[in-house]
Amino acid sequence: MDLGLQNKVIVVTGGARGIGESIVRKLTDENAVPCIIDINQELADKLVKELHQNGKDCFAIMADLTKSAQCENAINMILKKFDHIDGVVNNAGLNDGVSLENGSYEKFIQSLKVNAAHYFSITHFALNALKTSKGNIVNICSKVAQTGQGGTSGYAAANGMRMQLTTQWAEEFSVYGIRSNGIVVAECYTPQYEWWINQQSDPQKKLDEINAKIPLERRMTEPGEIADAVIFLLSEKSYPLTGELMYVDGGYVHLDRKA
Ligand SMILES: NC(=O)c1ccc[n+]([C@@H]2O[C@H](COP(=O)([O-])OP(=O)(O)OC[C@H]3O[C@@H](n4cnc5c(N)ncnc54)[C@H](O)[C@@H]3O)[C@@H](O)[C@H]2O)c1
Repeated sequence: MDLGLQNKVIVVTGGARGIGESIVRKLTDENAVPCIIDINQELADKLVKELHQNGKDCFAIMADLTKSAQCENAINMILKKFDHIDGVVNNAGLNDGVSLENGSYEKFIQSLKVNAAHYFSITHFALNALKTSKGNIVNICSKVAQTGQGGTSGYAAANGMRMQLTTQWAEEFSVYGIRSNGIVVAECYTPQYEWWINQQSDPQKKLDEINAKIPLERRMTEPGEIADAVIFLLSEKSYPLTGELMYVDGGYVHLDRKA
């Protein structure tokens, strides 16, 4: 199916690895032009080099997304290079385990900056360009906002924000033809997930327990499967979807987790 994404300039935050990297790769499969904004220069450069060697167009900018000025600078650099933006995928984040019991006010606010405030900043600075292009916003969210996880108040609150911003922007900017949708992720094996599982006392046992609770075939969602859904939402094939949260989670949130 031709998704009509050729030459579309799409911002992908956290595009250097994990889910973001898969989104970047799928975009280049569609001959779109992903623009990575990431703090990890080494990984971003490596990915861009590989994609360029394969004849794909891709661009990367280093920024710490917790700093609004760096978000603004990154968007300005993309606009300077391409003159337009057709889509924004807000994806970067970290399940940082800031809890009510052992966290602090300062850590809680920092968690909101790491996980939600840059969704606002990046989209804020890209908004005029999105109005011109009738662009698309896709916000990656976590099931933790709805199911809870325990011990991660900052991340849970930030994901509630991601979901509410998705609806808010759909309502506010429909008049410009801008669509805003979210993808809710539950369990997806990425470098961040691997790091977390290795902190557990028995990583394999923990992994088996988690897999056993996923309704669809007792397995995690793959980053490429999240990316496929993102690409669909970015394309005109998903018109007129807006203000939707799509649960790409093997039934994790809505079905009975029996195990
Ligand atoms: N993996 C899962 O199971 C899962 C579940 C639910 C939600 N999510 C969400 O998916 C998103 C991606 O997660 P992932 O598992 O691919 O993570 P990951 O850690 O593997 O990749 C995240 C990328 O974002 C970048 N990044 C993080 N903070 C940044 C900052 N302040 N400035 C610039 N770049 C920054 C990292 O350098 C990295 O390249 C996150 O927002 C996370 O909340 C993931």
